Amino acid sequence: MREERYLTFALGKGRLASQTMELLEKIGITCTEMKDKSSRKLIFVNEERKLKFFLAKGPDIPTYVEYGAADIGVVGSDTIMEEDRRVYEVLDLGFGRCRMCVCGPKEAAELLRHHEMIRVASKYPNIARDYFFNKKHQTVDIIKLNGSIELGPIVGLSDVIVDIVETGSTLRENGLQVLEEICPLSARMIVNQVSMQMETRRIRELILQLRNSLRELSLNR
Ligand code: PRP
Repeated sequence: MREERYLTFALGKGRLASQTMELLEKIGITCTEMKDKSSRKLIFVNEERKLKFFLAKGPDIPTYVEYGAADIGVVGSDTIMEEDRRVYEVLDLGFGRCRMCVCGPKEAAELLRHHEMIRVASKYPNIARDYFFNKKHQTVDIIKLNGSIELGPIVGLSDVIVDIVETGSTLRENGLQVLEEICPLSARMIVNQVSMQMETRRIRELILQLRNSLRELSLNR
């Protein structure tokens, strides 16, 4: 029989990776090495199941998967939309739920209604562009920021922002609010297109097990 090759997972660092490992544990996949929080290791192996896991920055996950450096990735749907890589999106994992929204001070709602030429700050310029240009047909100036996006309207860099809203507390504490909702978001599993053909049996089995486990979890909620 052919020796099984490693299936490699790329996981977005932080909470997404821990939640993914928790879910994998429910279907009997563990990786003890990964539980050592003091470790600076970047790649972890489960020899028995021939699996490898590595942690990377969220926006890089679709890149690793598109190029086949990872067979499977777990990342937020915001990143999948923003990066627009050639990968298969196979499963909604249900955690990491939040919303992509246009936010700003209350008064900015008028600027959105009248299709004015406004400045939009975002960590997600492609999502912002698609929303304003293709869906709202509003010409805007998009300014890319890398974090603390809420600062945009506060310091006068932009009129509004396009950003993730989870609990809404960052907005509230900074005097901003949701003006329009673009779409709901959650963690997704993505698969390399060639791996899907070459490792169909293992990958399909994995998706099936995860889907069943997610169904059980939602029934017990
Ligand atoms: C994200 C997002 C918002 C905040 C929303 O920022 O950009 O700022 O979380 O969460 P909330 O609705 O629960 O307050 P993140 O913490 O990723 O940091 P960043 O500002 O560096 O992007």
